[in-house]
Amino acid sequence: MLNDTSFAIHPGKEIRGSERDMYDAGKILSFAHDGNRFLARCENGEFAVTFYADEIVRLQMNPFGETEKKHSQAVVLEPEGLPFSVTETGQTVVLSSGKIRVEIGKDPLRVNIYDGENRPLFTEGKKGMGFKAGGEVVMFKEMGKDEFFYGFGEKTGYLNKRGEILTMWNSDVYAPHNPETDPLYQSIPFFIAFDRGFARGLFFDNPGKTVFDLQSDPDHLSITAESGSIDYYVFAGPTMKDVLAQYTALTGRMPLPPKWAIGYHQSRYSYESEEEVRRLVEIFKEKGIPLDVVHLDIHYMRGFRVFTFDRSRFPDPKKLVADLKKEGVHVVPIVDPGVKEDPEYPVFQEGIRKDLFCKYLDGTIFYGDVWPGNSAFPDFTDERVRKWWGEKHQFYIDLGIEGIWNDMNEPAVFNETKTMDVKVMHANDGDPKTHRELHNMYGFFMGKATYEGLKERLKGKRPFLLTRSGYAGIQRYSAVWTGDNRSFWEHLQMSLPMVMNLGLSGIPFAGADVGGFAHHANGELLARWTQAGSFMPFFRNHSALGTLRQEPWAFGEKYEKIIKKYIELRYRLLPQWYTLFEEAHRKGTPVMRPLVMEYPDDENTYSLFDQFMVGDNVIVAPIMQPAQTVRSVYLPEGNWIHYFTGETFEGGKYHLVEAPLEQMPIFVKQGTMIAHGEVKRNTKEKDESLTLHYYYGPDTRYEFALYDDDGESFAYQDGEYFRKSIRISADPEAVYLEVKEEGNYRPDWKELKLAVHNGKEGLKIYLNGKALQQNSDGTYRLY
Ligand code: GLC
Repeated sequence: MLNDTSFAIHPGKEIRGSERDMYDAGKILSFAHDGNRFLARCENGEFAVTFYADEIVRLQMNPFGETEKKHSQAVVLEPEGLPFSVTETGQTVVLSSGKIRVEIGKDPLRVNIYDGENRPLFTEGKKGMGFKAGGEVVMFKEMGKDEFFYGFGEKTGYLNKRGEILTMWNSDVYAPHNPETDPLYQSIPFFIAFDRGFARGLFFDNPGKTVFDLQSDPDHLSITAESGSIDYYVFAGPTMKDVLAQYTALTGRMPLPPKWAIGYHQSRYSYESEEEVRRLVEIFKEKGIPLDVVHLDIHYMRGFRVFTFDRSRFPDPKKLVADLKKEGVHVVPIVDPGVKEDPEYPVFQEGIRKDLFCKYLDGTIFYGDVWPGNSAFPDFTDERVRKWWGEKHQFYIDLGIEGIWNDMNEPAVFNETKTMDVKVMHANDGDPKTHRELHNMYGFFMGKATYEGLKERLKGKRPFLLTRSGYAGIQRYSAVWTGDNRSFWEHLQMSLPMVMNLGLSGIPFAGADVGGFAHHANGELLARWTQAGSFMPFFRNHSALGTLRQEPWAFGEKYEKIIKKYIELRYRLLPQWYTLFEEAHRKGTPVMRPLVMEYPDDENTYSLFDQFMVGDNVIVAPIMQPAQTVRSVYLPEGNWIHYFTGETFEGGKYHLVEAPLEQMPIFVKQGTMIAHGEVKRNTKEKDESLTLHYYYGPDTRYEFALYDDDGESFAYQDGEYFRKSIRISADPEAVYLEVKEEGNYRPDWKELKLAVHNGKEGLKIYLNGKALQQNSDGTYRLY
């Protein structure tokens, strides 16, 4: 309460920590190394270095005991036993993998890390690492004066995080998110440091409360963790894409989602009955608005008991799911972690009998209040509980459900601290730790349990999972949405840097509630938000109980038409989206990218947050203010073609671009290509024909790829996929396409056409050296 008044800034309140009261690790007393680990005993703790790959090194310092060889479950890469060289001089020991050199000062312990070309990756300067009297661990890294910082998972504010203090502590925040609202639901303690084109990364693997301070000292950032020890990984880059490839090699990559999950999702808290859901899907059909997924929020359950359906509202869920599936629409129900304390409820009985709930050291169960009232919480940190939770999903599988939405998994509890008592002791797969130490991984483990449970039971089909909470590595299991935003223009603005930074934190499949969750939307806001949302990886319209309805038609025909057009555009571009999702799955490169990722030498892109790229050649500049019909758009070097008007814009500068309500500015880079499928009702309908749109530029050099597979099974992992790579070059007279295909899968489409934009009369097109004939409609047949 008092924090809502001026008392919050009472002069007696100190809000910052510093190195003042820090105990330094001190000098190295002795050291040794074996195959791939270097270990040093210091005056105040143990220090270890392990190479995980040539470009990935792990550093640990435990002031309170030994450093553990074991790594957390966020990490999937095992150290390879890489040979590294050890060179000792009087003052230092130098370890090197060739790509990373760790220079260790002996008195006191100081660590400076360089890449193979001697560029500093992370240096400590004068400040090192250590601990505080309260048991916190602290470390410092120097910040270059031209450095920018990206990533940090799900944070409000702008793209560049320099100057911020960011806390990692998964929290349910319904209060309006604003630039100083921190933390939110996800904790990804990873960032990319970027200095004039040179990128490297750091992942601080500690699931307790952790604070990244990029504000208090202009020359150093600090990382302070309330519990645990110092345990971090450095990634050598040198490009942002390299850093992400390295980070996702360590923490895993997004599995390829089922194609339907990349389509349009409609949600509401709540569609409260079978009748309402059927009517909703009918309206979409009548109006010809594409739809792939309907979400069921908490009202589908019997008294909010998970793994139940309220039969008075949903008399025959199996038939509902089957009927909708026939129409090509998937049902995704919400599942929260809280299990209602009710001795007559089998899930609760089982949890008690089998000892599956979170409890204190003395064995008493932790209960907390959530939607169903007093509830117990499964201890997902334990493999036994995860298996049980996975098995419980047979309930949904039997109803034909293939996707689940996990919410409230910070875990959220309706009490003063908003979460579980930090004194709860988790089983943690045989290594018991308190909730204080593991808090940020609760949602991650729930996601692991759910995804693995679904996957095992779906008999070869790909599951879809959406989660609110997570930790580094959550991308292996789930898509992420940014929680309870509001129908504010400011929240539309905020969603861009937020989703971009999630992408820069290894989570490519992310999005915000389109139209805003809380508060009341209006037609203009929903139209503009749908335009932006149709170009974000996770595309779901969701709104809260008691707010104005927010379905595409809710604000009348004028807006419905525009909203429909952009949902259709999503479907038209689906082959392009799917190709980018596959790239994200294979390499960790995000689908939605800040411009700095593609134009790292262009300083104008470094802080650019209000426009973004989809892939490497499309720039999207949403309108994010009411009554705005023109906006400034920055276009980097090269020429850019307006997607709707075909007009050419010169890059390397800002343009004022017209943006009437029905038009969001979208630009395709000259000399590149994008793929179009057909507009359809949903992804169940297959494309008959695909068109590759090439935007002619006389000095083109571009590599285009088109990926496809069955969209629903894991057969792609055994070669059942299709990849067409087209190397495009051009001169003033002709365009040359060198096409290569790989994989055993044959796509559904029967023909592949090429449309050339802005090509002049008489331009010749060669496919693998053979001239192509133009069709009567001006296109060329490639396939
Ligand atoms: C939380 C979720 C929201 C959901 C609501 C009811 O607020 O963030 O998306 O609709 O709970 O389940």
